[in-house]
Amino acid sequence: MQQSAQTRPQHAVTHDAMQSFSNATDPRLAEVMGLLVKHLHAFVAESNLTKAEWLKGLEFLTEAAKITSDERNEFSLFSDIMGISSMVDVVSQPPGGTSSSVLGPFHNHDSHTQPNGCDLTQGQPGDRVWLHGRVLDIHQKPIPNAEIDFWQNADNGLYPAQDPAQDPQNLRCKISCDPNGSFSLLTIRPHPYTVPTDGPVGALLAHSNRSIWRPSHFHIIVSAPGYVGLVTELFPSGSDYIDNDTVFGVRPGLIVDIKPCHDEQVAQRYGLTTPVNEVNFDFCLVKKN
Ligand code: BEZ
Ligand code: FE
Repeated sequence: MQQSAQTRPQHAVTHDAMQSFSNATDPRLAEVMGLLVKHLHAFVAESNLTKAEWLKGLEFLTEAAKITSDERNEFSLFSDIMGISSMVDVVSQPPGGTSSSVLGPFHNHDSHTQPNGCDLTQGQPGDRVWLHGRVLDIHQKPIPNAEIDFWQNADNGLYPAQDPAQDPQNLRCKISCDPNGSFSLLTIRPHPYTVPTDGPVGALLAHSNRSIWRPSHFHIIVSAPGYVGLVTELFPSGSDYIDNDTVFGVRPGLIVDIKPCHDEQVAQRYGLTTPVNEVNFDFCLVKKN
């Protein structure tokens, strides 16, 4: 005999709420929403969530919505500081390639294409770093004409979007790799910086006595026709906060040494003296199925 809504046990709510998505036209929507309900209900039950706590959660989301705009997404930051963005990276990573890492809010689609070997420093302060390497497939074969999309913060720790004094194109570019998959550019040493703290996520981090810092990093998107695109970061070893990235983006394979390079030709090309700071990193892309 079927139980009525009044006599049904508490766990039937979970069953019914999961079932309510089962007729979705897209079966993947049914699966994901069903699992989301299942795990959120388990969280409510296990934590004995009070009404007051649930209301606080809703207030948090409301505040996040108020501060979110085209330029600023507090929900994306929330996902980052909860480790969800990194968890999605981890589970969606095709095996064999370079690890992916968080995109962050400062990527811009309209970076100008610069010649391979370009100098992005343009007289600004900062330790010069020659960043170069190759784009390879999982058999270590070069992928010709891959594209690099690069961005980072300036010597004051700020991205152009945070600093009206910077040219919007400062320290970012797109580069087409050569037929051997090689790319090269001159940039500066990046710096640690804090995630935005003026919204509800900042308040949550403060109440939780959590760090607001990210270690220094270069952002890179690598793409090539026929290969799974890679959104990643390179983290200079020894940077402050490398063991405590507040968005959990650091992976062991993405930590790079800034080493001294004694190549006179490289130094001359950029008007520097040896040794030049060098980061040499090969990216590995996985073929699309
Ligand atoms: C960043 O790397 O720029 C970043 C990533 C996640 C949250 C905030 C900033
Ligand atoms: Fe960043």
